[in-house]
Amino acid sequence: MKFIIHTFGCQMNKLDSELVAEALTAAGWKMTADENEADAILYNTCSVRDNAEQRVLARIMQLKPVKKQRPGLVIGLMGCFAQRMGAKLFDQLPHLDLVCGTRKFPQIAALLESARSGPVVAIEEETLVAPGTLDAHGRSLHDGMQAYISIMRGCNNFCTYCIVPYVRGREESRPEDAIVTEARTLVEKGAKEIILLGQNVDAYGKDINSSLAKLLYRVHEEVEGIVRIRFVTSHPRDITEDLVRAMNDLPKVANYLHMPAQSGSTRMLKAMNRGYTREEYDRKLEMVYRLAPTALIASDFIVGFPTETDAEFQTSVELVRQARFQNSFVFKYSPRPGTVAERTMPDDVPEEVKLARNHELLAAQEEVKIKRTEELIDSVQEILVEGVSPRNAEKMLGRTASNLICVYDRTVHADNEIGTLQRIRVDRATPLTLFGSKVEA
Ligand code: 5AD
Ligand code: SF4
Repeated sequence: MKFIIHTFGCQMNKLDSELVAEALTAAGWKMTADENEADAILYNTCSVRDNAEQRVLARIMQLKPVKKQRPGLVIGLMGCFAQRMGAKLFDQLPHLDLVCGTRKFPQIAALLESARSGPVVAIEEETLVAPGTLDAHGRSLHDGMQAYISIMRGCNNFCTYCIVPYVRGREESRPEDAIVTEARTLVEKGAKEIILLGQNVDAYGKDINSSLAKLLYRVHEEVEGIVRIRFVTSHPRDITEDLVRAMNDLPKVANYLHMPAQSGSTRMLKAMNRGYTREEYDRKLEMVYRLAPTALIASDFIVGFPTETDAEFQTSVELVRQARFQNSFVFKYSPRPGTVAERTMPDDVPEEVKLARNHELLAAQEEVKIKRTEELIDSVQEILVEGVSPRNAEKMLGRTASNLICVYDRTVHADNEIGTLQRIRVDRATPLTLFGSKVEA
Protein backbone atom coordinates (compact mmCIF):
# COMPACT_ATOMS: atom_id res chain seq x y z
CA MET A 1 0.00 0.00 0.00
CA LYS A 2 1.34 3.40 -0.98
CA PHE A 3 0.58 6.92 0.23
CA ILE A 4 1.38 10.45 -0.81
CA ILE A 5 1.14 13.55 1.42
CA HIS A 6 0.72 17.10 0.15
CA THR A 7 1.55 19.76 2.73
CA PHE A 8 0.12 23.27 2.63
CA GLY A 9 1.27 25.68 5.29
CA CYS A 10 3.83 26.35 7.96
CA GLN A 11 6.82 24.49 9.42
CA MET A 12 4.53 22.99 12.03
CA ASN A 13 2.55 21.38 9.25
CA LYS A 14 5.69 20.02 7.64
CA LEU A 15 6.63 18.43 10.96
CA ASP A 16 3.16 16.94 11.27
CA SER A 17 3.40 15.47 7.77
CA GLU A 18 6.71 13.93 8.73
CA LEU A 19 5.12 12.30 11.77
CA VAL A 20 2.30 10.93 9.65
CA ALA A 21 4.79 9.55 7.13
CA GLU A 22 6.75 7.89 9.92
CA ALA A 23 3.64 6.37 11.49
CA LEU A 24 2.45 5.03 8.15
CA THR A 25 5.86 3.65 7.24
CA ALA A 26 6.01 1.87 10.59
CA ALA A 27 2.63 0.31 9.78
CA GLY A 28 3.94 -1.09 6.49
CA TRP A 29 2.90 1.65 4.06
CA LYS A 30 5.30 3.01 1.45
CA MET A 31 5.65 6.66 0.53
CA THR A 32 5.33 7.54 -3.15
CA ALA A 33 5.72 10.75 -5.12
CA ASP A 34 3.30 9.60 -7.80
CA GLU A 35 -0.41 10.15 -7.22
CA ASN A 36 -1.26 7.61 -9.93
CA GLU A 37 0.11 4.73 -7.93
CA ALA A 38 -1.04 5.93 -4.49
CA ASP A 39 -3.64 4.00 -2.51
CA ALA A 40 -4.07 7.01 -0.23
CA ILE A 41 -3.77 10.70 -1.09
CA LEU A 42 -3.46 12.88 1.99
CA TYR A 43 -3.59 16.65 2.34
CA ASN A 44 -2.19 18.32 5.42
CA THR A 45 -3.34 21.88 5.56
CA CYS A 46 -3.11 25.08 7.49
CA SER A 47 -6.05 27.29 8.46
CA VAL A 48 -4.22 30.48 9.37
CA ARG A 49 -5.21 32.20 6.15
CA ASP A 50 -8.00 31.48 3.77
CA ASN A 51 -5.97 30.80 0.62
CA ALA A 52 -4.39 27.51 1.71
CA GLU A 53 -7.86 26.19 2.50
CA GLN A 54 -9.25 27.30 -0.84
CA ARG A 55 -6.39 25.74 -2.74
CA VAL A 56 -6.82 22.44 -0.99
CA LEU A 57 -10.57 22.41 -1.56
CA ALA A 58 -10.00 22.97 -5.28
CA ARG A 59 -7.40 20.19 -5.40
CA ILE A 60 -9.67 17.68 -3.71
CA MET A 61 -12.57 18.68 -5.97
CA GLN A 62 -10.38 17.76 -8.94
CA LEU A 63 -9.97 14.26 -7.52
CA LYS A 64 -13.66 13.47 -7.91
CA PRO A 65 -13.35 11.78 -11.33
CA VAL A 66 -10.19 9.99 -10.16
CA LYS A 67 -12.06 8.54 -7.23
CA LYS A 68 -14.79 7.31 -9.62
CA GLN A 69 -12.19 5.43 -11.63
CA ARG A 70 -10.34 4.10 -8.59
CA PRO A 71 -12.97 3.46 -5.89
CA GLY A 72 -10.38 1.85 -3.58
CA LEU A 73 -8.46 5.11 -3.32
CA VAL A 74 -8.57 6.79 0.12
CA ILE A 75 -8.60 10.60 0.12
CA GLY A 76 -7.80 12.24 3.44
CA LEU A 77 -7.68 15.79 4.73
CA MET A 78 -5.62 16.39 7.86
CA GLY A 79 -4.40 19.23 10.06
CA CYS A 80 -5.82 22.56 11.15
CA PHE A 81 -8.35 22.80 8.34
CA ALA A 82 -9.67 19.33 9.17
CA GLN A 83 -9.80 20.20 12.87
CA ARG A 84 -11.71 23.39 12.12
CA MET A 85 -14.32 21.90 9.78
CA GLY A 86 -14.81 18.32 10.98
CA ALA A 87 -17.61 16.36 9.33
CA LYS A 88 -18.86 19.47 7.52
CA LEU A 89 -16.15 18.79 4.94
CA PHE A 90 -18.13 15.82 3.63
CA ASP A 91 -20.92 18.20 2.52
CA GLN A 92 -18.55 19.98 0.18
CA LEU A 93 -16.47 16.93 -0.67
CA PRO A 94 -18.67 13.84 -0.79
CA HIS A 95 -15.81 11.76 -2.19
CA LEU A 96 -13.58 12.49 0.82
CA ASP A 97 -12.85 9.48 3.07
CA LEU A 98 -10.97 10.79 6.08
CA VAL A 99 -10.90 13.96 8.20
CA CYS A 100 -8.05 13.88 10.72
CA GLY A 101 -7.48 16.73 13.21
CA THR A 102 -4.24 18.11 14.65
CA ARG A 103 -4.11 15.87 17.70
CA LYS A 104 -5.03 12.60 16.01
CA PHE A 105 -1.97 12.15 13.82
CA PRO A 106 -0.45 9.37 15.93
CA GLN A 107 -3.47 7.15 15.13
CA ILE A 108 -3.23 7.78 11.40
CA ALA A 109 -2.54 4.18 10.33
CA ALA A 110 -5.64 2.81 12.08
CA LEU A 111 -7.73 5.72 10.80
CA LEU A 112 -6.69 5.08 7.21
CA GLU A 113 -7.51 1.42 7.59
CA SER A 114 -11.07 2.14 8.72
CA ALA A 115 -11.49 4.88 6.10
CA ARG A 116 -11.15 2.14 3.48
CA SER A 117 -14.56 0.85 4.45
CA GLY A 118 -16.38 4.16 5.07
CA PRO A 119 -15.96 7.84 5.91
CA VAL A 120 -14.06 8.59 9.12
CA VAL A 121 -13.87 11.79 11.18
CA ALA A 122 -11.24 12.01 13.91
CA ILE A 123 -10.99 15.40 15.55
CA GLU A 124 -10.47 16.52 19.11
CA GLU A 125 -13.77 17.94 20.35
CA GLU A 126 -11.96 19.77 23.10
CA THR A 127 -8.61 21.18 22.02
CA LEU A 128 -7.73 21.81 25.66
CA VAL A 129 -5.58 18.73 26.22
CA ALA A 130 -4.57 17.25 29.53
CA PRO A 131 -1.06 18.18 30.65
CA GLY A 132 1.65 15.68 29.91
CA THR A 133 0.11 14.32 26.74
CA LEU A 134 2.32 16.32 24.47
CA ASP A 135 5.47 14.30 24.36
CA ALA A 136 3.94 11.57 22.28
CA HIS A 137 3.19 14.31 19.76
CA GLY A 138 6.62 15.87 19.97
CA ARG A 139 8.64 15.35 16.89
CA SER A 140 11.50 16.39 14.75
CA LEU A 141 12.24 16.75 11.10
CA HIS A 142 15.62 16.39 9.55
CA ASP A 143 16.01 18.25 6.32
CA GLY A 144 19.57 18.38 5.02
CA MET A 145 21.72 20.42 7.36
CA GLN A 146 18.78 21.79 9.29
CA ALA A 147 16.58 19.95 11.74
CA TYR A 148 13.41 21.21 13.35
CA ILE A 149 12.24 20.34 16.83
CA SER A 150 8.77 21.18 17.98
CA ILE A 151 9.33 22.38 21.56
CA MET A 152 5.79 23.41 22.34
CA ARG A 153 2.37 23.36 20.79
CA GLY A 154 -0.65 25.58 20.87
CA CYS A 155 -1.19 29.19 21.83
CA ASN A 156 -3.00 30.94 24.67
CA ASN A 157 -3.09 34.41 23.18
CA PHE A 158 -6.33 34.55 21.25
CA CYS A 159 -5.41 37.38 18.93
CA THR A 160 -8.84 38.28 17.58
CA TYR A 161 -8.04 37.37 13.97
CA CYS A 162 -6.29 34.08 14.63
CA ILE A 163 -7.56 30.54 14.33
CA VAL A 164 -4.50 28.88 15.90
CA PRO A 165 -5.75 28.65 19.51
CA TYR A 166 -8.94 27.02 18.21
CA VAL A 167 -7.29 24.43 16.00
CA ARG A 168 -4.07 23.75 17.87
CA GLY A 169 -5.25 24.10 21.44
CA ARG A 170 -3.58 25.64 24.47
CA GLU A 171 0.14 26.08 25.07
CA GLU A 172 1.94 22.98 26.16
CA SER A 173 5.72 22.72 26.52
CA ARG A 174 7.71 19.56 26.05
CA PRO A 175 10.16 18.62 28.80
CA GLU A 176 13.66 20.12 28.47
CA ASP A 177 15.30 16.69 28.69
CA ALA A 178 13.29 15.31 25.80
CA ILE A 179 14.30 18.25 23.62
CA VAL A 180 17.98 18.00 24.51
CA THR A 181 17.97 14.26 23.80
CA GLU A 182 16.24 14.79 20.50
CA ALA A 183 18.71 17.50 19.49
CA ARG A 184 21.59 15.14 20.28
CA THR A 185 20.08 12.40 18.13
CA LEU A 186 19.54 14.79 15.24
CA VAL A 187 23.11 16.08 15.42
CA GLU A 188 24.41 12.51 15.54
CA LYS A 189 22.43 11.88 12.36
CA GLY A 190 24.20 14.80 10.70
CA ALA A 191 22.13 17.91 11.47
CA LYS A 192 24.20 21.06 11.96
CA GLU A 193 21.52 23.59 12.70
CA ILE A 194 18.65 23.02 15.12
CA ILE A 195 15.53 25.13 14.79
CA LEU A 196 13.31 25.18 17.86
CA LEU A 197 9.72 25.63 16.75
CA GLY A 198 6.52 26.76 18.36
CA GLN A 199 3.57 29.03 17.61
CA ASN A 200 4.80 31.07 20.49
CA VAL A 201 8.28 29.74 21.35
CA ASP A 202 9.16 32.46 23.81
CA ALA A 203 6.29 31.31 26.02
CA TYR A 204 8.16 28.00 26.28
CA GLY A 205 8.38 26.66 29.80
CA LYS A 206 5.73 28.79 31.47
CA ASP A 207 3.75 25.64 32.20
CA ILE A 208 6.73 23.54 33.36
CA ASN A 209 8.78 26.05 35.35
CA SER A 210 11.35 26.55 32.62
CA SER A 211 12.03 29.20 29.97
CA LEU A 212 13.32 29.47 26.43
CA ALA A 213 16.47 31.19 27.72
CA LYS A 214 17.15 28.21 29.98
CA LEU A 215 16.48 25.76 27.17
CA LEU A 216 18.86 27.63 24.83
CA TYR A 217 21.66 27.39 27.42
CA ARG A 218 21.05 23.67 27.83
CA VAL A 219 20.97 22.87 24.11
CA HIS A 220 24.05 25.03 23.61
CA GLU A 221 25.98 23.34 26.43
CA GLU A 222 24.76 19.78 26.19
CA VAL A 223 24.53 19.01 22.49
CA GLU A 224 27.98 18.22 21.25
CA GLY A 225 28.69 19.05 17.63
CA ILE A 226 25.79 21.45 17.17
CA VAL A 227 26.79 24.38 14.98
CA ARG A 228 23.84 26.76 15.08
CA ILE A 229 20.59 27.13 17.00
CA ARG A 230 17.53 29.18 16.03
CA PHE A 231 14.06 29.61 17.41
CA VAL A 232 10.78 30.79 15.83
CA THR A 233 8.23 32.35 16.32
CA SER A 234 8.21 34.82 19.21
CA HIS A 235 5.43 36.94 20.62
CA PRO A 236 6.79 40.44 21.38
CA ARG A 237 5.22 40.48 24.82
CA ASP A 238 7.05 37.33 25.89
CA ILE A 239 10.51 38.44 24.74
CA THR A 240 12.42 38.93 27.99
CA GLU A 241 15.81 40.49 28.71
CA ASP A 242 16.99 37.03 29.76
CA LEU A 243 16.07 35.63 26.37
CA VAL A 244 17.81 38.41 24.43
CA ARG A 245 20.91 38.04 26.62
CA ALA A 246 20.96 34.29 26.03
CA MET A 247 20.66 34.87 22.28
CA ASN A 248 23.43 37.45 22.30
CA ASP A 249 25.79 35.66 24.69
CA LEU A 250 25.57 32.15 23.28
CA PRO A 251 27.77 32.12 20.19
CA LYS A 252 25.89 29.30 18.47
CA VAL A 253 22.50 30.92 18.82
CA ALA A 254 21.70 33.01 15.74
CA ASN A 255 21.13 36.68 16.55
CA TYR A 256 17.83 36.68 14.77
CA LEU A 257 14.40 37.35 16.19
CA HIS A 258 11.07 36.91 14.48
CA MET A 259 9.01 39.39 16.46
CA PRO A 260 5.71 39.98 14.64
CA ALA A 261 4.33 43.48 15.18
CA GLN A 262 1.13 42.94 13.10
CA SER A 263 0.46 46.72 13.07
CA GLY A 264 2.06 50.03 13.98
CA SER A 265 -1.15 51.45 15.41
CA THR A 266 -2.13 51.08 19.06
CA ARG A 267 -5.82 51.17 18.18
CA MET A 268 -5.38 48.28 15.74
CA LEU A 269 -3.19 46.36 18.18
CA LYS A 270 -5.91 46.70 20.78
CA ALA A 271 -8.58 45.50 18.33
CA MET A 272 -6.32 42.57 17.51
CA ASN A 273 -5.86 41.78 21.22
CA ARG A 274 -2.09 41.67 20.79
CA GLY A 275 -1.42 42.59 24.41
CA TYR A 276 0.94 45.52 23.73
CA THR A 277 0.73 49.12 22.57
CA ARG A 278 2.90 50.65 19.86
CA GLU A 279 5.00 52.33 22.57
CA GLU A 280 5.52 49.01 24.31
CA TYR A 281 6.57 47.42 21.01
CA ASP A 282 9.03 50.28 20.41
CA ARG A 283 10.49 49.81 23.88
CA LYS A 284 10.88 46.08 23.24
CA LEU A 285 12.75 46.80 20.00
CA GLU A 286 14.99 49.28 21.77
CA MET A 287 15.75 46.67 24.45
CA VAL A 288 16.63 44.04 21.83
CA TYR A 289 18.97 46.36 19.89
CA ARG A 290 20.55 47.57 23.17
CA LEU A 291 21.31 44.07 24.48
CA ALA A 292 22.01 42.46 21.09
CA PRO A 293 23.33 45.22 18.83
CA THR A 294 23.89 42.93 15.84
CA ALA A 295 20.43 41.35 16.04
CA LEU A 296 18.39 41.13 12.87
CA ILE A 297 14.67 41.34 13.43
CA ALA A 298 11.82 40.19 11.22
CA SER A 299 8.13 40.96 11.52
CA ASP A 300 4.67 39.96 10.30
CA PHE A 301 1.98 42.50 9.44
CA ILE A 302 -1.71 42.23 8.74
CA VAL A 303 -3.07 44.92 6.43
CA GLY A 304 -6.74 45.78 6.06
CA PHE A 305 -7.77 44.62 9.52
CA PRO A 306 -11.40 45.70 10.16
CA THR A 307 -11.78 49.51 10.32
CA GLU A 308 -8.07 50.16 9.60
CA THR A 309 -7.79 53.72 8.23
CA ASP A 310 -5.16 54.97 5.81
CA ALA A 311 -3.50 56.92 8.61
CA GLU A 312 -3.38 53.80 10.78
CA PHE A 313 -1.93 51.78 7.93
CA GLN A 314 0.77 54.46 7.52
CA THR A 315 1.92 53.81 11.09
CA SER A 316 2.84 50.27 9.94
CA VAL A 317 4.87 51.69 7.04
CA GLU A 318 6.59 54.04 9.42
CA LEU A 319 7.28 51.19 11.86
CA VAL A 320 9.00 49.16 9.14
CA ARG A 321 11.33 52.11 8.49
CA GLN A 322 11.94 52.91 12.13
CA ALA A 323 12.45 49.31 13.26
CA ARG A 324 14.74 48.56 10.34
CA PHE A 325 13.37 45.03 10.01
CA GLN A 326 15.46 42.66 7.98
CA ASN A 327 12.31 41.15 6.60
CA SER A 328 8.53 41.40 6.91
CA PHE A 329 5.82 38.95 5.96
CA VAL A 330 2.71 40.90 4.98
CA PHE A 331 -0.78 39.37 4.95
CA LYS A 332 -4.11 40.77 3.83
CA TYR A 333 -6.65 40.30 6.60
CA SER A 334 -8.93 37.34 5.99
CA PRO A 335 -11.75 36.60 8.46
CA ARG A 336 -11.32 33.17 10.03
CA PRO A 337 -14.59 31.51 11.04
CA GLY A 338 -15.27 31.48 14.76
CA THR A 339 -12.63 34.04 15.73
CA VAL A 340 -13.62 37.18 17.65
CA ALA A 341 -12.81 39.43 14.70
CA GLU A 342 -14.92 37.38 12.34
CA ARG A 343 -17.87 37.32 14.74
CA THR A 344 -17.83 40.93 15.90
CA MET A 345 -16.02 43.12 13.36
CA PRO A 346 -16.96 44.03 9.80
CA ASP A 347 -14.48 42.97 7.12
CA ASP A 348 -14.87 46.49 5.76
CA VAL A 349 -11.57 47.29 4.03
CA PRO A 350 -12.12 46.69 0.30
CA GLU A 351 -9.97 44.02 -1.34
CA GLU A 352 -8.27 46.53 -3.65
CA VAL A 353 -7.31 48.68 -0.65
CA LYS A 354 -5.90 45.63 1.12
CA LEU A 355 -3.92 44.79 -1.99
CA ALA A 356 -2.57 48.33 -2.38
CA ARG A 357 -1.54 48.41 1.30
CA ASN A 358 0.09 45.03 0.93
CA HIS A 359 2.20 46.30 -1.99
CA GLU A 360 3.08 49.56 -0.27
CA LEU A 361 4.24 47.88 2.92
CA LEU A 362 6.28 45.29 1.03
CA ALA A 363 7.89 48.06 -1.04
CA ALA A 364 8.87 49.95 2.12
CA GLN A 365 10.28 46.75 3.58
CA GLU A 366 12.25 46.05 0.41
CA GLU A 367 13.90 49.49 0.60
CA VAL A 368 14.85 48.92 4.22
CA LYS A 369 16.17 45.47 3.42
CA ILE A 370 18.37 46.76 0.59
CA LYS A 371 19.82 49.43 2.88
CA ARG A 372 20.40 46.97 5.70
CA THR A 373 22.04 44.49 3.38
CA GLU A 374 24.35 47.18 1.98
CA GLU A 375 25.35 48.10 5.50
CA LEU A 376 26.72 44.59 5.87
CA ILE A 377 29.50 45.43 3.38
CA ASP A 378 32.84 45.30 5.21
CA SER A 379 31.31 43.48 8.17
CA VAL A 380 32.33 39.96 9.11
CA GLN A 381 29.48 37.42 9.04
CA GLU A 382 29.44 33.91 10.40
CA ILE A 383 27.98 31.62 7.80
CA LEU A 384 27.02 27.99 7.96
CA VAL A 385 28.53 26.49 4.83
CA GLU A 386 26.12 24.29 2.87
CA GLY A 387 28.28 23.30 -0.08
CA VAL A 388 29.46 24.34 -3.50
CA SER A 389 27.31 27.05 -5.07
CA PRO A 390 24.94 25.44 -7.58
CA ARG A 391 25.38 28.48 -9.84
CA ASN A 392 29.15 28.71 -9.78
CA ALA A 393 31.42 25.76 -9.06
CA GLU A 394 34.23 28.11 -8.01
CA LYS A 395 32.22 29.41 -5.07
CA MET A 396 31.09 27.99 -1.77
CA LEU A 397 27.63 28.87 -0.48
CA GLY A 398 26.33 29.29 3.04
CA ARG A 399 23.82 31.19 5.12
CA THR A 400 24.14 33.93 7.68
CA ALA A 401 22.29 33.84 10.98
CA SER A 402 19.47 35.77 9.35
CA ASN A 403 19.30 33.25 6.52
CA LEU A 404 20.91 35.49 3.87
CA ILE A 405 22.80 33.57 1.22
CA CYS A 406 26.52 34.31 1.23
CA VAL A 407 29.09 33.02 -1.29
CA TYR A 408 32.88 33.05 -1.15
CA ASP A 409 35.79 31.59 -3.14
CA ARG A 410 36.24 27.85 -3.13
CA THR A 411 39.73 26.69 -2.25
CA VAL A 412 41.24 23.22 -2.47
CA HIS A 413 40.33 22.57 1.17
CA ALA A 414 36.81 23.91 0.84
CA ASP A 415 35.11 20.52 1.19
CA ASN A 416 36.18 20.41 4.82
CA GLU A 417 34.26 23.62 5.38
CA ILE A 418 30.88 22.08 4.56
CA GLY A 419 28.76 21.97 7.70
CA THR A 420 30.99 24.35 9.65
CA LEU A 421 30.72 28.02 10.53
CA GLN A 422 33.11 30.24 8.57
CA ARG A 423 33.87 33.91 9.10
CA ILE A 424 33.36 35.83 5.88
CA ARG A 425 34.12 39.49 5.22
CA VAL A 426 31.38 40.89 2.98
CA ASP A 427 32.79 42.66 -0.10
CA ARG A 428 29.63 43.19 -2.10
CA ALA A 429 25.90 42.77 -1.59
CA THR A 430 22.82 42.39 -3.73
CA PRO A 431 19.35 42.21 -2.15
CA LEU A 432 19.47 38.42 -2.32
CA THR A 433 23.12 37.50 -1.97
CA LEU A 434 26.24 38.57 -0.10
CA PHE A 435 29.63 38.09 -1.75
CA GLY A 436 32.64 37.83 0.50
CA SER A 437 35.99 36.38 1.30
CA LYS A 438 37.13 34.15 4.08
CA VAL A 439 38.71 35.70 7.15
CA GLU A 440 41.54 33.40 8.22
CA ALA A 441 41.36 32.48 11.89
N1 5AD B 1 -5.66 37.10 8.26
C1 5AD B 1 -4.47 37.50 7.79
N2 5AD B 1 -3.29 37.14 8.32
C2 5AD B 1 -3.32 36.37 9.41
N3 5AD B 1 -2.33 35.85 10.15
C3 5AD B 1 -2.87 35.10 11.11
N4 5AD B 1 -4.21 35.09 11.02
C4 5AD B 1 -4.53 35.89 9.96
C5 5AD B 1 -5.74 36.30 9.36
N5 5AD B 1 -6.93 35.92 9.82
C6 5AD B 1 -0.92 36.16 9.91
C7 5AD B 1 -0.28 36.87 11.12
C8 5AD B 1 0.57 35.82 11.73
C9 5AD B 1 0.95 35.00 10.51
C10 5AD B 1 1.44 33.62 10.80
O1 5AD B 1 -0.22 34.95 9.74
O2 5AD B 1 0.52 37.94 10.64
O3 5AD B 1 1.71 36.34 12.40
FE1 SF4 C 1 -2.31 33.38 16.57
FE2 SF4 C 1 -1.77 35.46 18.18
FE3 SF4 C 1 -1.25 32.91 18.99
FE4 SF4 C 1 0.26 34.02 17.05
S1 SF4 C 1 0.11 34.74 19.18
S2 SF4 C 1 -0.63 31.92 17.05
S3 SF4 C 1 -1.24 35.29 15.99
S4 SF4 C 1 -3.27 33.80 18.59
